[in-house]
Amino acid sequence: MTSDDLRERIDTTRPHPARRYNYWLGGKDNYAADRESGDEIAKRWPAIVTAVRENRAFLQRAVRYSAEQLGIRQFLDIGTGLPSADNTHEVAQRADPACRIVYVDNDPLVLAHARALLTSTPEGVTAYIDADLREPAKILRDPGLVGALDLNRPVALLLVAVLHFIPETADPYAIVSTLKDALAPGSLLVLSHGSFDLLPQATVTALTGDHYPGNDHFHARTRVQVERFFDGFDLIQPSPDDLERPPPELGVISDWARAPHDGGPAPEQVSTWGAVARKPRSRGDRSAA
Ligand SMILES: C[S@@+](CC[C@H](N)C(=O)[O-])C[C@H]1O[C@@H](n2cnc3c(N)ncnc32)[C@H](O)[C@@H]1O
Repeated sequence: MTSDDLRERIDTTRPHPARRYNYWLGGKDNYAADRESGDEIAKRWPAIVTAVRENRAFLQRAVRYSAEQLGIRQFLDIGTGLPSADNTHEVAQRADPACRIVYVDNDPLVLAHARALLTSTPEGVTAYIDADLREPAKILRDPGLVGALDLNRPVALLLVAVLHFIPETADPYAIVSTLKDALAPGSLLVLSHGSFDLLPQATVTALTGDHYPGNDHFHARTRVQVERFFDGFDLIQPSPDDLERPPPELGVISDWARAPHDGGPAPEQVSTWGAVARKPRSRGDRSAA
C-alpha cells in the first residue's frame, strides 16, 4: 500500500477508537475529533481514563507473566492499538529476546505507525498484519503470521480490549473459537472486555443514550457473556504460589496478578472483565491449570 492509499484510509474528521484510546493513555497520536469524543465520554464516565490505563497495565502484566512464569515465547496480539510505552514485544523480549510477536490491527493509523512495533531484538521477530479480527481464517493463513509463528507450539493469543468492538451480528464467539482451535495445547488466551455490569444505571444511560459520542459501536458484555469466550480453556492462577487455591473466577482486570500491597482502583472504576486462560494439553487434562 502506498502512503497516498494510507492517507486516504485515515479519516481524521471522525473519532476513532485506537486514537481515542491513545488520547486517554496520554499519547500524542490523536486528532481533535478523537479528543472531543474522548472528553465527551469522560464527562459521562470520568473513570474511563483509569479504566484504559488499568487495561494497558493488565496487558503488560499478562504478557510478562506469560513469558516469565509460563515460558511462552510466541504472541499473537490482535487489536494492537497505536504504539505506546511497553508494547507487547518490548515486555516479552525483556523476558527472553528470542520471543516472536505478530501484531494485527485494522486501523490504517496503526499501520502507519507500525514501524515502532517492528523494533525486534535480533534474536526474536516482530511482524505486523493489516487485517480484520472479523476474518480470523485470513489472519491465520497470512504469510506474516505463518512466517513468524509456529502454531504447533504454544502461543499467547491477545484479544485485549478489542472484542467489545465486535457486534453479535459478526458472531464474536465463532471468531474466537476459530482462533482458539488453531492454537496448540498449552497456548494462552489473554482477554479483556469492557462491561457495564459495575456501573450505576445513570452512567449506563448516559453512555448509551441518543447522544452517545462514539461512532464506533461499543458492545459492552456482561461477565457471563465474557466468560463464554474462555470456553474450553482453563483460567490460570496468577501466581505459582497460589496453586493450592480453587480455580480462579473471571474478575476485573485490575485485580489480575496485582501485587498484594498495591491496592488498585475500585472495580467500578475499571468495569472491564479479563483473565488469562490455558488450552488443556489433552481432553480432561486440568492439572496444568
Ligand atoms: C482500545 S484499543 C486496544 C489496544 C491494545 N490491545 C490495548 O489493550 O492496549 C482497540 C484496538 O482494536 C482495534 N480494532 C477494533 N476493531 C478491530 C477489528 N475488527 N479488527 C482488528 N482490529 C480492530 C482498534 O483499531 C484499536 O487499535
